[in-house]
Amino acid sequence: MKAYRLDSFGSLDALRLHDEPDPAPQRGEVLVRVRAVSLNFRDIAIVRGRYPRKAVPGLIPVSDAAGEVVAVGEGVESFSVGDRVMGAFHPRWFGGEMPSTIARDSYGAESDGWLCERKAVSQEAIVRLPDALSFEEAATLPCAGLTAWTALTGPTPIRAGHTVLIQGSGGVSTFALQLARAVGATVIATTSSPAKAEQLRALGASAVVNYVEDPEWGKSVRKLTGGRGVDRVVEVGGPGTIGQSLRAVALGGEIASIGFLSTENPGIDFFQLKMSGASFRNITVGDRAALIELTRAVAATGLKPIIDRTYDFADARDAFAHLDSGAHVGKVVIRLS
Ligand SMILES: NC(=O)c1ccc[n+]([C@@H]2O[C@H](COP(=O)([O-])OP(=O)(O)OC[C@H]3O[C@@H](n4cnc5c(N)ncnc54)[C@H](OP(=O)(O)O)[C@@H]3O)[C@@H](O)[C@H]2O)c1
Repeated sequence: MKAYRLDSFGSLDALRLHDEPDPAPQRGEVLVRVRAVSLNFRDIAIVRGRYPRKAVPGLIPVSDAAGEVVAVGEGVESFSVGDRVMGAFHPRWFGGEMPSTIARDSYGAESDGWLCERKAVSQEAIVRLPDALSFEEAATLPCAGLTAWTALTGPTPIRAGHTVLIQGSGGVSTFALQLARAVGATVIATTSSPAKAEQLRALGASAVVNYVEDPEWGKSVRKLTGGRGVDRVVEVGGPGTIGQSLRAVALGGEIASIGFLSTENPGIDFFQLKMSGASFRNITVGDRAALIELTRAVAATGLKPIIDRTYDFADARDAFAHLDSGAHVGKVVIRLS
């Protein structure tokens, strides 16, 4: 089979195609013929050496994939040949507390990921696709979709009457927009681009603030809520956006801390944190049980993931470069024929 490996860090030139033996499913494993993968910011962060966790070179990159089962190992009862499946982002986090194996299992960082033609995985590490989704669409759910789902559910699920703030127009943010609208919540978005602002409005954002033209965007978002603040911030910017997020959040609201897109790190003001009256919840994508809940929600609501562009497997490097450019809205996908 053909598999991409990231032979070193620093440049996309190190993403090279290799010929490798086909994997064989062992006891309890299935062999998945990969039909589509989707890219996340972490895939670029790993290339650029900006990933905040350990990453080792030489691995097959990419955490998110969908495909079909083409063989099953001994003792596999949950899946059969022909089943349409996707990989869980955390292959051994089934529910409850995060297991200590999280880092070791991290696809593309500490273990081989999915940018390859075939992959043998445990039957416990995959989930069935919603029928209405194509392989390309379903490949966007395991990380971006589930992260948005976890951010909006959690101890206080977002519901009609709540207001959600999303930052930018990337994969996690557009999923959060769609999922929040699906339950009748109001969405306010930020973006750096007037053209993307129109797209975000068309997707259901009730207001959009340009975070480049308006560095005090947190105050502006608060004003848009009549001074009350938003119930949930889907915080993907990280160190450079947390200060404004604290201005935007309502007393008793929540900052779901997800990302680290910003490069600046001015620090957090303790009194601003305390006086916000908000809670801070760290998100690590989500467990397998939540991924199954998300597939049910997608099936029930008819949600269609926003795919900006789909590339052929041969053009994988161009797909990474497109994500790296930040020109996308939603997800960047690679299709395997
Ligand atoms: N903790 C977790 O469980 C988890 C899970 C998934 C993702 N993440 C993290 O969440 C972040 C988003 O991931 P993603 O895959 O959705 O990214 P993505 O698709 O690459 O999103 C990029 C977009 O984010 C916006 N952006 C960039 N810098 C920004 C800033 N300083 N302030 C506000 N918006 C900014 C831009 O939107 P505009 O062009 O509209 O300005 C950009 O196009 C990443 O840091 C990723 O590593 C964490």
